[in-house]
Amino acid sequence: MSSIDYSQKIPNNVNLSEDRTLQRALEQWQPNYLSWWNETGPEGSTNFDVYLRTAVSVDPQGWAQFGYVKMPDYRWGIFLNPAEQDRKIHFGDHLGEPAWQEVPGEHRANLRRIIVTQGDTEPASVEQQKHLGHTAPSLYDLRNLFQVNVEEGRHLWAMVYLLHKYFGRDGREEGEALLERRSGDQDNPRILGAFNEKTPDWLSFFMFTYFTDRDGKFQLCALAESGFDPLARTTRFMLTEEAHHMFVGESGVSRIVQRTCQVMNELKTDDPAKLRAAGVIDLPTIQRYLNFHFSVTIDLFGADQSSNAATFYSAGLKGRFDEGKRDDDHVLKGDVYKVLEVQGGKLVEKEVPMLNALNEVLRDDYIKDSVSGVNRWNKVIEKAGIPFRLKVPHKAFNRQIGALAGVRISPDGRPVSDAEWDANVAQWLPTAEDRAFVASLMGRVVEPGKFANWIAPPAIGINRQPVDFEYVRFG
Ligand SMILES: [Fe+2]
Ligand SMILES: [Fe+2]
Repeated sequence: MSSIDYSQKIPNNVNLSEDRTLQRALEQWQPNYLSWWNETGPEGSTNFDVYLRTAVSVDPQGWAQFGYVKMPDYRWGIFLNPAEQDRKIHFGDHLGEPAWQEVPGEHRANLRRIIVTQGDTEPASVEQQKHLGHTAPSLYDLRNLFQVNVEEGRHLWAMVYLLHKYFGRDGREEGEALLERRSGDQDNPRILGAFNEKTPDWLSFFMFTYFTDRDGKFQLCALAESGFDPLARTTRFMLTEEAHHMFVGESGVSRIVQRTCQVMNELKTDDPAKLRAAGVIDLPTIQRYLNFHFSVTIDLFGADQSSNAATFYSAGLKGRFDEGKRDDDHVLKGDVYKVLEVQGGKLVEKEVPMLNALNEVLRDDYIKDSVSGVNRWNKVIEKAGIPFRLKVPHKAFNRQIGALAGVRISPDGRPVSDAEWDANVAQWLPTAEDRAFVASLMGRVVEPGKFANWIAPPAIGINRQPVDFEYVRFG
């Protein structure tokens, strides 16, 4: 392997060819990465020519180069946004000090943990989505799935670059471990809960890319504020790619909703049984999937009160969403924030030190952002003249982490008894029957311009190509 010119093979803007140690570390890691991709990446796709964008630089011309690529040959690259001259740490106890270009010894363990936790989500989602190519509703959607998959692979490269470059032997060990854990594995699972759930069908995939990739956006935004400059610059570039993942989710759900509404109007019915018989996904089922993915995803922000969150912030490792645009003191000592807890059978707000509540702050920012896309789905329903509206559930619903873990709360935010929960849960979360029905719709549609019955075509194609473009060619 040592004869490979990695500065050519791995597109990068980090002077890879001038850093022998890093080059050697990546030389050892790359074949293992490819074995991981071949084992747990998109099934049966090795010979497909896929119309993909590849980043070859971070400027507007270079970061979205489109062309046909066989995915194992995708040029997974390493890109950092350009350095900002004299960048300063702009929050926490080191406020005003120069941003770090090397890892400060006292923050080494925490930084490594932050990078590993983020890095672990990237391959996890590829593993979760590996079966979906068999049931793509169109070539257009198949391409989008693969685009998301290769970019999550690149995000893993981005995090492994930091581990290799700045964390020596521990970093290399973590890089290997990132290829060894497996989503949903009993013995060696991925680190975070939502990344061990299955993504069994395309409704789940679109909900995942809408809700869970958006968690990625918020985590990356918080890390893009970091005082550790290489982390900030890496995550800033990752965010440009992340936007497409959320687009895939938002437009995917929107097209499902659009198709369902069309059939509701044709058949003049809102009866789920009739709609299912007509081969579309009824709106209440879509709502249950939404409830599931939203609640599982907001758990990813962690416990509502967390001393780690306080440490990460005060140390300057992880900021808030839009830290630079906030007009407080960016130190937050003495500030308070409201979190929820159940007292005497009621949900009540409690003021706690804001530093300890920064997970909750990020979760609340995330929730605001999530709601806007749901409102756009509702516009589609409204335009079809149908009175139904989708709604994100209350943030206390179906939680597994923090003070609300295991507390029975209805989607509209009422504490309920176990009996009431049991009597209603089939209306609130997808049932085995719902999942079996959605699974029954999944079939492969790969003729250019054709779409499965349960989803509307998109209004426009990718990179200004027509909707009936041959987005994937099968070898
Ligand atoms: Fe990612
Ligand atoms: Fe993503």
